[in-house]
Amino acid sequence: MRIDIISVLPDLLISPFEHSILKRAQKKGIVEVNVINLRDYAKDKHKTVDDYAYGGGGGMVMMIEPIANCIDALKSERNYDEVIYMTPDGELLNQKISNQLSLLENIVVLCGHYKGIDHRIREHLITKEISIGDYVLTGGELAAAILTDSIVRLIPGVISDETSALTDSFQDNLLAPPVYTRPENFNGMKVPPVLLSGNTGEVEKWRQEKAMQRTKEKRPDILD
Ligand code: 6GU
Repeated sequence: MRIDIISVLPDLLISPFEHSILKRAQKKGIVEVNVINLRDYAKDKHKTVDDYAYGGGGGMVMMIEPIANCIDALKSERNYDEVIYMTPDGELLNQKISNQLSLLENIVVLCGHYKGIDHRIREHLITKEISIGDYVLTGGELAAAILTDSIVRLIPGVISDETSALTDSFQDNLLAPPVYTRPENFNGMKVPPVLLSGNTGEVEKWRQEKAMQRTKEKRPDILD
């Protein structure tokens, strides 16, 4: 899979992909994350990518030309399955969307800034709009990093123990059950005995029950 992220703050997107699982996935050649500086597609010597909104009102708007030229340049190299715009008024990201996107080969992720982007880009060039929650960030970069992380970890081969991603919270509309590791007893706080029993059937039954109980308590909205 290839993920091309368009941004006016490309430095913000370096560190998130240089560690742990995401770093390893790129090293293994399973995914390529490429960050493009939108200013490289600005026309004037000041590298302008935003301008005043027609009709007045405060706030700058990202111009259509640099973005269209950037997306055109990307499209001349390969075919894209989706051109995604990160925006607080997009579709709310969830595990189902991440699962679907993890099956694609090439995607573009455009990070917005200021008061947003010229609406003609959304009408003509964007195929999907995604928000990561009902709150406003200063730009789309952190949201793009979150989207990318949630997608990449689902690509087969990225997480070595493949069942690990399948037992995540939300993967089956349930929160994950509690987990414990050594020591068995820490200052009187004990690990549930069933987990030490060696009875895999009982352990699985306990995990199902706890997953259901935690979901009912904390997130009844996600239960089918
Ligand atoms: Cl995708 N972008 C911005 N700027 N704010 C957000 C968001 C995205 N999702 C939630 N808040």
